Amino acid sequence: MKFFIDTADIAEIRDLAATGLVDGVTTNPSLIAKSGRKFLDVVAEICAVVPGPVSAEVAATDFDTMLREGRRLAAIATNVAVKVPLTVDGLKTCKALSDDGVAVNVTLCFSAAQALLAAKAGAAYVSPFVGRLDDIGQNGMDLIADIVGIYDQYPALRTEVLVASVRHPGHVVEAARLGAHVATIPPAVLRQLYNHPLTDKGLAAFLDDWARTGQSILGA
Ligand code: E4P
Repeated sequence: MKFFIDTADIAEIRDLAATGLVDGVTTNPSLIAKSGRKFLDVVAEICAVVPGPVSAEVAATDFDTMLREGRRLAAIATNVAVKVPLTVDGLKTCKALSDDGVAVNVTLCFSAAQALLAAKAGAAYVSPFVGRLDDIGQNGMDLIADIVGIYDQYPALRTEVLVASVRHPGHVVEAARLGAHVATIPPAVLRQLYNHPLTDKGLAAFLDDWARTGQSILGA
């Protein structure tokens, strides 16, 4: 499963990209607003740091303007994936951009029916928001299972299931268990994935025992 990071914070992106575990980045208008920076500048900068797909979301809601915005975003770098909302005009834009060879990430997906439409519109990625479904008392991961199961029926489909609105490590593990192609992970959650108290305890014991040997691997 690919790991994207869900942030527009360039310092976080540089730091996590250095781990070698980052396959791409997703942004959205809220994350851009939080960065306090100019959208097009941030996207260009992220694209230069991470070679994988960088999702940049259109801001218009009508087809003509979304298409113009999408083309503008796609022109920033070859690794831009244009993000469009799952609306009638969003999917029209998805189809037009996809037909032009632009990778499109269809966002704000909350049902299997919507995911089916995104695939038919030629989306490179569909982004079901698991955390926001959990927030309203539904099980977000059930939707992932549903979409992965449906897409699996049609091996020719190229749309990847990108698990979004990830809130904790359990979402990431379950996404992998279900065979989702990608999870986009907030930086804090990605860092949590490393942690286990038995790793810390075990390492402390090994270091103590090693110190008692008085040896050095690099020394004489
Ligand atoms: C990513 O593409 C989504 O915009 C993001 O994961 C949404 O996450 P949130 O529900 O925590 O805002």
